[in-house]
Amino acid sequence: MGINIALDGPSGAGKSTIAKLAAKKLGYVYVDTGAMYRSIAYHALENGADLSDEAQVTEQLDGLKIELTYIDGSQAVLVNGVNVSDKIRTPEVSMGASQVSKVPAVREFLLDTQRDIAKANDIIMDGRDIGTVVLPDAQVKLFLTASAEERANRRFKELQEKGDPSTYEEVLADINQRDYNDTHRDIAPLRQAEDAQLIDSTSMTIDEVVDAIVKAAEACSDSLKKKSEQVSEDGEEKKSRRNRTIMPVHPISRDKKINPVRQFFYNILRPIVIFVFKLMYDIHYEGIENVPKNGGNIFASNHRSYADPVFIALHARVPISYMAKEELFNGNKAFALLIKAFGAFPVVRGSGDTAVIDTAVEKLESGRNLVIFPEGTRSKDGKVGKGKTGVALIAAVAQTTVVPVGINFEGEKLAKRKKVVVRYGKPVEPSDVGVSGTDAASLKKMKKEIMDRISSLVY
Ligand code: DC
Repeated sequence: MGINIALDGPSGAGKSTIAKLAAKKLGYVYVDTGAMYRSIAYHALENGADLSDEAQVTEQLDGLKIELTYIDGSQAVLVNGVNVSDKIRTPEVSMGASQVSKVPAVREFLLDTQRDIAKANDIIMDGRDIGTVVLPDAQVKLFLTASAEERANRRFKELQEKGDPSTYEEVLADINQRDYNDTHRDIAPLRQAEDAQLIDSTSMTIDEVVDAIVKAAEACSDSLKKKSEQVSEDGEEKKSRRNRTIMPVHPISRDKKINPVRQFFYNILRPIVIFVFKLMYDIHYEGIENVPKNGGNIFASNHRSYADPVFIALHARVPISYMAKEELFNGNKAFALLIKAFGAFPVVRGSGDTAVIDTAVEKLESGRNLVIFPEGTRSKDGKVGKGKTGVALIAAVAQTTVVPVGINFEGEKLAKRKKVVVRYGKPVEPSDVGVSGTDAASLKKMKKEIMDRISSLVY
């Protein structure tokens, strides 16, 4: 588990402004749980549901997909793939969110997602029940409040700036009504956790509150660091903390489609390359039924030759991307252009660079398939090595499908007319093996699963 800061408090106390700023300073992920309730309310209102009717609200959850993702560095919320971040900030949706949040099925629906995000990242999560119900073990718990009049005042100014016609009296009445709803509901009512620190921001500046949170988090992080240094005589624990990458987990939608122009050129090029490769090598494929029809998948393979990305791509039905060592881009310009055109992007070996992970996830999100050789280098004798966890990290961040691939040929070098057998194995997703986060233990488990599957496809 990363460091979890639970920030609860009534509507309009400034939680989201403060959480966003503190998260930025700390390099944590900010998770706005109110946005999740708002999205459900928005979805139900769009469908004409009566929000005071529990059964009607529960019905709205059927097939509903709420995703938190990051667009240009800000959190965005998607309802069934549509970005509704702006639409959920109206007074009508605010009141609706307060209503739907009373429904037990709604709270249950969101609980696992909220906990999974917290497990995988250093986060600051704001809401009403974070310290009491969602993350009772959070290392830092805060309860931020301010008088109802002060909160109404702040909210009124915000709405005025947006051109909203509500009066101050209406805004105050709204705040009082939501306070009442949030504190009097039967399930997970708004309440300060016993071990939470109370911050009354009525007469504090934003900076003062942010500083208080940052200090609390840093104190906690220092004490965790010290503890891990004491525990790790063998260095294992220390290493896993240092190497951990903080990433929001944002599942990639399964039905991702590639840009049609790119797909068009790929459809023209593919038969030509297949033709040339069939002339050059005696290629045999096994398990092509395991290749998903759509893009956004990782193909994790053993590495035998420079032609491997092409061997793998011939049966992937959408364009691939693959990581290539940086040196290849710095040599012959024409060669660099060619491999770029075929989807290569550079990695600096051994850098553990998080930008590479971001690029890889971006490629997957744009609908491309991504070829990864977890061993890093080519194997001369054909034996499969232990592999590195990068492949598991990318799979866990993107929560996407990994198709194992085994490339087989006799001897050390790939020569003309040699028999090459490419085997695609059964795809696996992080969730299939119980991996929902990017902590060191989950990544190790996922990597082992992938390497075992590759080994079973290699003779
Ligand atoms: O923080 P917010 O105003 O965006 O939240 C909207 C509503 O969602 C709020 O009235 C109460 C509800 N909510 C909740 O019940 N539990 C949470 N953890 C977050 C929000």
